[in-house]
Amino acid sequence: MNRIADYSGNLLNHVETLYRPGEREIAIRMATALGCVISDTGFKGDGDESFLAAHPNPGDPDPRNNAFFMSPMRPEQQALEARLVRLAQDDAGFAATLETYRHTARTKPFGVSHFALRYATGDAVADAAERLKAMLGSELGERLHVRVFEPGESGAIGARLVQGFVYQDVIVSGSFLYGQLIELQSQPHH
Ligand SMILES: [Fe+2]
Repeated sequence: MNRIADYSGNLLNHVETLYRPGEREIAIRMATALGCVISDTGFKGDGDESFLAAHPNPGDPDPRNNAFFMSPMRPEQQALEARLVRLAQDDAGFAATLETYRHTARTKPFGVSHFALRYATGDAVADAAERLKAMLGSELGERLHVRVFEPGESGAIGARLVQGFVYQDVIVSGSFLYGQLIELQSQPHH
């Protein structure tokens, strides 16, 4: 199977992510650093900016499969996020709970909600992690945390199993306050 559209079974289709108003360009840079190519779906819903599709496989940028979409956060969520931010500012206990969650996401990511991208090799995961830091690290500061794990030995040379975890709040599929963890996974062939 070379093209995802040729696979006829059911599959996990897409993830819908959002970016903050004004951060479309940073979202594009983040997806690009992850190794994705971007296409514009042209669909705007009831907003002003079109939905973008980020394709993990640049060789097969199918607009309807194997993609995550990126679109601007809608006013309803902006209102909710704004209230949560105020709560965190006004309630020291809530702020501490939030910081504990963020610390866990950065240091023990395995049980924290995330979505994952598959890469062909462990080296490709390491390269993506380096690109993220190079392209966005200084600009995002505390908003970006990249961690690479090499969980264990895998037999053959070149079959390095590598997992990367990227914790950031540029593109999220939930709350911007919580941030979004993205896993970078390699599946070496044995
Ligand atoms: Fe995972």
